Amino acid sequence: MTSTERLDRVLVLELVRVTEAAALAASRTVGLGDEKKADQVAVEAMRAALNALPIDGTVVIGEGERDKAPMLFIGEKVGTGEGPKIDIALDPLEGTRITAKGGSNALAVVAIAAEGHLLNAPDTYMEKIAIGSGYKKGLIDLDKEPAENVRNLAAAKGVSPGEITACILDRPRHDEIMRQLREIGCRVELISDGDVAGAMRTALPDNNVDIYIGTGGAPEGVLAAAALQCFGGQFQARLVFQNDDEKDRAHRLGITDLDKKYDIDDLARGDVIFAATGVTDGALLKGVRKSRFGGLSTQTLVLRSASHTIRWVETDHILA
Ligand code: FBP
Repeated sequence: MTSTERLDRVLVLELVRVTEAAALAASRTVGLGDEKKADQVAVEAMRAALNALPIDGTVVIGEGERDKAPMLFIGEKVGTGEGPKIDIALDPLEGTRITAKGGSNALAVVAIAAEGHLLNAPDTYMEKIAIGSGYKKGLIDLDKEPAENVRNLAAAKGVSPGEITACILDRPRHDEIMRQLREIGCRVELISDGDVAGAMRTALPDNNVDIYIGTGGAPEGVLAAAALQCFGGQFQARLVFQNDDEKDRAHRLGITDLDKKYDIDDLARGDVIFAATGVTDGALLKGVRKSRFGGLSTQTLVLRSASHTIRWVETDHILA
């Protein structure tokens, strides 16, 4: 890793403040049935926190294209403009539906790396496959059948496919994957939303997920890859286009090979810092809750690839 790729370690704690701010704001909308409002307050809070950072930041994964998103759009400059040039991938509220319905696993998420080190992915779908750390490179492959990937993972772990749990978004498009996996006895944990957490859980041994498979948002794919890069996990992906407009969007972001199979290093590389704060309770993180000191408390997971650190930050935001 070159010195220009290395980020200031102070940014680890700064990013915690960023996701905490978004999570605290979003928490006030939990269960109110208003997805738009939930997203809006999280975006505003995250943007204000990012703009206080001493960085020359550019949003590469954000709320959408400039004409569709008023804030944190792709290409928006954030930070004071005085520090290093940094690319930012963010999702102020990963799980807007979850938050509106008062469900579990909603997160506020951000990842940063030196300029040019995060994929500028369009807001399309993406096929994804992920496992945690400790396996030989190439153990999983997007081009193999899901059942074969699970069999290979089970063999590497020295267990039967029946002892493997796959996390999959509960969507009709995944019926064939579910059928294949259940046929070989693999357990399937279906999630309603939130596949950043789904993919990340493969890297946390006590989270009872061994492999994540399926198609979800491409922006969420880059964020999950950033987290897995820090954990030392594996991640592969391919963009999925539904129409020519989506292909044009990819072209505009400089993507020429629309069928490219992306490895983790194509998505997030170098010194990556990733932070996620729980909005609602989930397998990965506790949601925002009342603090015993008065005010609210948050739980944040912050990762850095250069230092191989996994930090769990519990913060009490005491009311003045
Ligand atoms: P939001 O952050 O927009 O709430 O996305 C939630 C999510 O479940 C992602 O985690 C996932 O990648 C995507 O939506 C799946 O999209 P779809 O609901 O169209 O299947």
